[in-house]
Amino acid sequence: MSDRKKVGVFCSGGDAPGMNAALRSIVRRGIAQGLNIVAIHRGYKGILDEAFEKMIPRSVGNIIQTGGTVIKTARCERFYKEEGVRQAAEILKSYEFDGLIAIGGDGTFRGLLELQKVWDGQIIGIPGTIDNDIYGTDYTIGFDTAIDTAIQALDRIRDTADSHERVFIVEVMGRHSGFIALKVGIGSGAEEILIPEDEPIDLKAVAKRIKDARDRGKTSLIIIVAEGVSKPDIFTFCKKLTTQPGLEFSTHISILGHLQRGGSPSAVDRWNATRMGAYAVDCILGGDSGIMVGEQNLKLVKVPLKDTQKKKSIDRYAHSLIRDLAI
Ligand code: F6P
Repeated sequence: MSDRKKVGVFCSGGDAPGMNAALRSIVRRGIAQGLNIVAIHRGYKGILDEAFEKMIPRSVGNIIQTGGTVIKTARCERFYKEEGVRQAAEILKSYEFDGLIAIGGDGTFRGLLELQKVWDGQIIGIPGTIDNDIYGTDYTIGFDTAIDTAIQALDRIRDTADSHERVFIVEVMGRHSGFIALKVGIGSGAEEILIPEDEPIDLKAVAKRIKDARDRGKTSLIIIVAEGVSKPDIFTFCKKLTTQPGLEFSTHISILGHLQRGGSPSAVDRWNATRMGAYAVDCILGGDSGIMVGEQNLKLVKVPLKDTQKKKSIDRYAHSLIRDLAI
């Protein structure tokens, strides 16, 4: 038995650009500060499958610039059940883990809260999701890159919309939140941004605004629809929107989908992921547990894990600008 603390690190939920930068930082800061760092492959599933790999500094060489996660990620059904959580705790005990650092979104943190009830090791979360929908932090790893990727795609769509004088409906990611839709919409000069936070959406009013914009001489229009709004799917949603009596219009649909999740992380994501990863290690060394490392007003903060389950609010000011910016 070693007297070095043994800390497991894993990614869970959707991958996000910058997860590798965070992993690199955790491994190297952790080892440099005297920790024994073990990667857990495939998130919670990896705990249950005992998929552990002892990390050395070279294990994370040449990954800071890569998208996805080299230690894989998963959404684990087994862990959502009480039995799975209890089993995970037993495994962590038998391998003598002292702490865990998990990189993921609200589902990942829900899992940590459950684990905390039955395992007494230190638990630290790092917000890693392109959705940026985690309460208690202004920023989540991957959001910045995803926005840039989506805006580049939108610029291309605008070229076609403009050349052919078309209306485009573009679905962006965000099952439960409109943070991606809002920032992509503002950054690409979209005419409409429809977000789950505004449900139910008044489709007649949206169709009327499209008609009015056309009447004002706008020839190309882009409507950004967050995934969480386009129910049951974007095609049905689009049909409802474009067949409002007296306000009918034709559109083209584009679904950006998973292309928003991959790719080399932006400078912002590398910077923040590195800081958050190192800070999570420092939190372990300082004896913290049951917290998420977050960023508020550009400063690293510790947020109680249970707070991460609250609803983060959208920037209403930015959203309100869309009407004026689309005149
Ligand atoms: O949470 C990140 C996210 O990309 C959401 O925006 C999206 O709704 C979801 O994951 C898609 O998940 P999956 O790749 O498992 O279908």
